[in-house]
Amino acid sequence: MASSTATNLWVLLGLGIAGVLLAAKRLRRPARPDSGAFITRLELLPPPQPPPPQARHPLTGLCFAIADAFHVSGYITSFGSLEWAKTHDAETQTSLVVSSLVDGGAMCVGKTVIDEMAFSIHGENKHFGIPTNPAAPDRVPGGCSSGSAVAVAAGMVDFALGVDAIGGVRIPGSYCGVLAFRPSHAVVPNSGVIPVAPSLDAIGWFARDPSVLRRVGHLLLRLPYADIRQPRLFYIADDCFEMSKVPARRLTQVITKSVEKVFGRQVLGHVNLENHLASRIPCLRNYSNGQKHGDSKFSSLLALSRAMQFLHKHEFKDQHMEWINSVKPAVDASIVGNLSDDLESTINSSQDARKEVRAALSALLKDDGILVIPTVLGCPPKLHARELSSLDYNVQTSCLTSLASMSGCCQVTVPLGTHDKCPVSVSLIARHGGDRFLLDTIQTIYATIQEQVDVLAKSNVSSKQAMSEEAAEAAKEKGNIAFKEKQWQKAINCYTEAIKLNNKVATYYSNRAAAFLELASFRQAEADCTSAIDIDPKIVKAYLRRGTAREMLGYYKEAVDDFSHALVLEPMNKTAGVAINRLKKLFP
Ligand SMILES: *[C@@H]1O[C@H](CO)[C@@H](O)[C@H](O)[C@H]1NC(C)=O
Ligand SMILES: *[C@@H]1O[C@H](CO)[C@@H](O)[C@H](O)[C@H]1NC(C)=O
Ligand SMILES: *[C@@H]1O[C@H](CO)[C@@H](O)[C@H](O)[C@H]1NC(C)=O
Ligand SMILES: *[C@@H]1O[C@H](CO)[C@@H](O)[C@H](O)[C@H]1NC(C)=O
Ligand SMILES: *[C@@H]1O[C@H](CO)[C@@H](O)[C@H](O)[C@H]1NC(C)=O
Repeated sequence: MASSTATNLWVLLGLGIAGVLLAAKRLRRPARPDSGAFITRLELLPPPQPPPPQARHPLTGLCFAIADAFHVSGYITSFGSLEWAKTHDAETQTSLVVSSLVDGGAMCVGKTVIDEMAFSIHGENKHFGIPTNPAAPDRVPGGCSSGSAVAVAAGMVDFALGVDAIGGVRIPGSYCGVLAFRPSHAVVPNSGVIPVAPSLDAIGWFARDPSVLRRVGHLLLRLPYADIRQPRLFYIADDCFEMSKVPARRLTQVITKSVEKVFGRQVLGHVNLENHLASRIPCLRNYSNGQKHGDSKFSSLLALSRAMQFLHKHEFKDQHMEWINSVKPAVDASIVGNLSDDLESTINSSQDARKEVRAALSALLKDDGILVIPTVLGCPPKLHARELSSLDYNVQTSCLTSLASMSGCCQVTVPLGTHDKCPVSVSLIARHGGDRFLLDTIQTIYATIQEQVDVLAKSNVSSKQAMSEEAAEAAKEKGNIAFKEKQWQKAINCYTEAIKLNNKVATYYSNRAAAFLELASFRQAEADCTSAIDIDPKIVKAYLRRGTAREMLGYYKEAVDDFSHALVLEPMNKTAGVAINRLKKLFP
């Protein structure tokens, strides 16, 4: 048992195919009353209230859960692994954040499931089961802090703590449809929490209510008090939304409308993040060299993601190699070998990348700017899905989370309802140290965001229509390109697609008619022109094309009528004039 854990873990580390192994061992579990979120129930009660006139504890009345990487005195921390639990004793000290929260008036009610050794971002744990995502039960909850996200999403606690190295709080927040906050690097003390990758690690928390998210922040953040300030500019990272599989408009519309309503139109801005980063993180060029990446449009972001993956693995091994070796001495040598290639320079350039991306984001955001990006690239994957084990999925999913992980900036995941029955979200990022500013901003704008989500849900029909209209236009553009390249059949296919998506546009029929003419399919060309004219009786091109089709089919009188009609609509049109003269000469 011990050896199989370690082997699987190494497979996960090195090749990322553990998901496949897990898929082979599908678990059948009965419905669980707590959605499988908890590993251990416990009660840490807050101290009595101080006597008046002193203020009551700031978190009075709230209850919370903690991911099982936080130590609680008297309990064994499992770190998501039965082997870990077996080889460690009960802790003698409670982690500082947990005791601060309890001292602050909140009650801790239990420890929640995390991914094995907090390593992955999926939320599938073979030791403790997969917590059920209340927002999408057939999909993964996201990891590593899966149980904490689920406990909040299911309403079992008011807030919950998790750990976030490469997205471990932000991703499950997005997948489960709750608010999730990753503070700036090193502003929340992490003593008494098992480290994953220290230069990336942050303690984060989930909540449904933005005021709870903020109250927890004000207690935990070791940052000087700052006056509430208005955001100067929201930068919508247009290129990042292009990467998302959820239509960009579905995500940005709610945010832009809410920002406009609450702070005014003048605070809306746009940025192409890839361009912004490309010139500012030169040390990442070494990460792109010799690497295949399908989309060179995002080479800086993908390189940033790879650098983060490298640091994550490297530092994780630094922390836990010894233990893993003690459980399973023969570690797969090829993985170690790969990592030690050029190790020092890779560490150096990854560490440099952290500084550079922080400087690049500071230059953009300054004290009071906010960057808006998608949290993840799409819907949570189905349980046991193959994509979970693909390297591409991992690199791509973490390319958006790598911005905050690598820069150390703070980030909040904001749920935006569902799209195609899947929870969707965006993320807001502020500069390193801008945590209070970000939490204040979210509290100010959140109710409006939820209003806009409702408005959008109610207008779902019209927005669906708008989307298919957009897609139809895109198909037409493709058809036009194919037409220019004289790929007639391809053009016809594209126009057909456009008509399928939106059958109320005369141009689509008229353009398809032009392609049919090129293929000498005159009957089809004629029929398309008739459809076009039915929709738009003033479409000159369709009369000209139908005239041509009819001329070729031998309907000369009808052809003359069409050309004449074109001439009525556009009296100076030589094409029509010439055709009429030709036909009249031939068939007087
Ligand atoms: C390690 O390197 C070898 C040879 O360079 C390669 O075949 C293998 O896929 C690499 N493994 C990983 C986990 O990258
Ligand atoms: C890339 O790596 C090479 C050697 O590994 C190093 O000399 C060079 O300075 C690096 N370039 C950047 C921009 O970090
Ligand atoms: C890495 O950085 C250290 C400290 O800055 C430096 O001494 C060392 O030469 C660097 N190594 C490489 C390969 O660039
Ligand atoms: C659109 O919203 C209405 C309620 O507002 C709902 O009944 C309907 O199922 C939704 N349709 C789709 C396709 O989501
Ligand atoms: C005749 O009208 C069509 C459609 O508006 C146009 O594409 C074409 O260029 C015109 N031809 C001339 C010679 O004006």
